[in-house]
Amino acid sequence: MNSEWLKSAYTEYFTTAPKKITNLVMERGQGIHLYTIDGEKYLDFVQGVAANALGHCHPTLTAAAVKQLHQLGHASFNLVSYPSALALAAELRKWTGRMDKFFFTNTGAEVVESGLKLARYITGKSSIIAFRGSFHGRTMGAASVTGSSAKFRKHYAPFLPQVYFAPYPYCFRCYFHQKPETCALDCLAYLLDDFEHFIPSEDISVILLEPVMGEGGYVVPPKKYMEALTTLCRDKGFLLMFDEVQTGMGRTGRMFAFQHFGIEPDILLLGKAVGGGYPLAVLAANREIMDRWPPGSHGSTFGGHPVACATGLAQLEIVGASGFLDSVVAMGVLFREQLIRLQQRFPEIGDVRGLGLMNAIELVKPDGRHDPEKTAAIVAHLFSKKILVYTCGVRGNIIRFMPPLNVEEPVLDRLIDALDQAFAAARKTI
Ligand SMILES: Cc1ncc(COP(=O)(O)O)c(C=O)c1O
Repeated sequence: MNSEWLKSAYTEYFTTAPKKITNLVMERGQGIHLYTIDGEKYLDFVQGVAANALGHCHPTLTAAAVKQLHQLGHASFNLVSYPSALALAAELRKWTGRMDKFFFTNTGAEVVESGLKLARYITGKSSIIAFRGSFHGRTMGAASVTGSSAKFRKHYAPFLPQVYFAPYPYCFRCYFHQKPETCALDCLAYLLDDFEHFIPSEDISVILLEPVMGEGGYVVPPKKYMEALTTLCRDKGFLLMFDEVQTGMGRTGRMFAFQHFGIEPDILLLGKAVGGGYPLAVLAANREIMDRWPPGSHGSTFGGHPVACATGLAQLEIVGASGFLDSVVAMGVLFREQLIRLQQRFPEIGDVRGLGLMNAIELVKPDGRHDPEKTAAIVAHLFSKKILVYTCGVRGNIIRFMPPLNVEEPVLDRLIDALDQAFAAARKTI
């Protein structure tokens, strides 16, 4: 396998369906860095799309994986139990509050499917409320509740019936033209109005929401919205299910994003980082809910793989250790301050937002419209400086930053410097 062959093999052998944004072939990763087969070094602010909470090949996680591989690979949690999965459940329970029982599967989409099935199973009701702008995955059930971009749904209909989309509280672009000072939660009132017009509330099983919207634009909802939504669910008897596939496991500076709002869902969905960079996803709910999901009603061959559980556990012990999440909060504050200073110099950064180390900038034209062209120019400039970032949002005008949670200040400084140069360069060309 020479390097020329490796570089051409992807296009030769793979479908074009996933939107791969680079043709880089990586040989190894260490911390924040990825190294190509030609020995080039990249700063990686994507980190396996927020799955590597502690960066590439963290030595403790690698050691846990190797140890587990020597002991037991796949046996199927459907058939037998093993220590790594049981210990991970015990450790997770220290953080999940009332949600004290678990189901283990492999990916974000699968855990969303699991949550939808559980909600329908135990309520006997079919209707689901999801959100405009939400992303929950690519399988049919998950795509049915995804409202972040029509491209995820194009040519795949029919979807699950009885899925309704409510407006997400996207305050920077409030659908109801309010400002935080004038906000009376019109977006929630709109959903309540829908209950009068065409969504019989008696048929609703669950409200499914990302407590910080990911793929749709890194949008942090106001606390009062989250409180009011929780109250609505309690009053009407709807289940409240949070998709924390992207926000969970310390990304926002709390173990789970819902903790920022002083509320708790009935069902919690975790993916990405929960396996320490290996495929694992977890559904958590309280035993009154879980005990109504009888044997045989759900399952997974690979779900709760021993290696992913071992690495997930090793990571949780680090992220959950005293002081770690405080440092995520502090680093996040520092990073947003730097982004805000950049915004003062470059007002084309319309919004700086985020929690912990889940942050983004939204690029706008002088009249406030989305600016995907400038966003693409900034991303390309960063790429030319060997810095990898991802965009999000339906119009591709938001750049999101997903550094490892143990990132150090000089690395963030380097990113800020590169962004500064990129914005200055884009001014000259666009
Ligand atoms: C919030 C959220 N839910 C679900 C998913 C789907 O996860 P996966 O790609 O592992 O199926 C993602 C992936 O980006 C996500 O961000």
